[in-house]
Amino acid sequence: MRDIDSKTITDAVIGYCEPETDERLKYLLTHGLAHLHNFIREVRPTHAEWRAVIDKLTRAGSITTDERNEFVLFSDVLGVSSLVDMLNSDPSATAASVLGPFHIHDAPELKVGGDLIRGNPGEQVVVSGHVRDAGGKPVAGVTMDLWQTAENGLYSNQDPNQPDYNLRATMNLGPDGRYLFTTVKPAPYTVPDDGPVGDLLRATGRRAWRPAHFHVIVRADGYKPIVTELFLSDDPYLDRDAVFGVRKSLVVEYRPRHSIEGLPSDLEARSRMKIPFSVIDYDFVLVREKR
Ligand code: BEZ
Ligand code: FE
Repeated sequence: MRDIDSKTITDAVIGYCEPETDERLKYLLTHGLAHLHNFIREVRPTHAEWRAVIDKLTRAGSITTDERNEFVLFSDVLGVSSLVDMLNSDPSATAASVLGPFHIHDAPELKVGGDLIRGNPGEQVVVSGHVRDAGGKPVAGVTMDLWQTAENGLYSNQDPNQPDYNLRATMNLGPDGRYLFTTVKPAPYTVPDDGPVGDLLRATGRRAWRPAHFHVIVRADGYKPIVTELFLSDDPYLDRDAVFGVRKSLVVEYRPRHSIEGLPSDLEARSRMKIPFSVIDYDFVLVREKR
């Protein structure tokens, strides 16, 4: 009979994988276990410390629902979600950023030039730009998913006082890849901190704030979809995002305008803009899906 000790246990666990194990799964397990076991050998947790880790994971499981996933939040605040985004991003495409838990499928369609303000209080913003390919040519057949918080820092599905689908839209772009809409300035907000993720943030003196952002998904047939966010240059939390979603290339100039002169004629809310308002201009870049 063989003997297993603290040095040989890693190979013993890996050796239990039967030969028919999927290659990629075996690769991930082999490397993951090697790192995990080495970590344990290095930091030598006490039984109490390891039990505390298991207790946190158990609590994460017990508060996870369809609407709230504490494991995703752990991945977000530990920078793992963003690291996976970065490693899977094409450097020629617009940078990816976290999806977050507040996206809803099938938001109502808003035409190019349409208005999302619809009675929402707050600073008004005109958001526009183009979706292009890596060579700078407009991409045809783009669909954009847009969602953001209201002025109070809450998404419509967190706030019973907002109408369903408030500040959310699906926009189908024309052959010129141009998008345009009016909205209100989103607000910074805190990620849910009443669970084990919040305990971790507090234990390490971290804050739960995210800088204000517009969430955007850009997709078109034959291109790799982009899940990303746009951040505003005047935001106080740009360098302290709790989930590490900010990239320099996703921060847009946010400056007040005092006249509607120069605004496009197909902007539905053009004549009723509350002055001063702001204008954001940002182009997205899609790259071809690899076959
Ligand atoms: C969000 O931006 O909606 C978000 C992202 C990660 C965690 C919580 C919220
Ligand atoms: Fe968000």
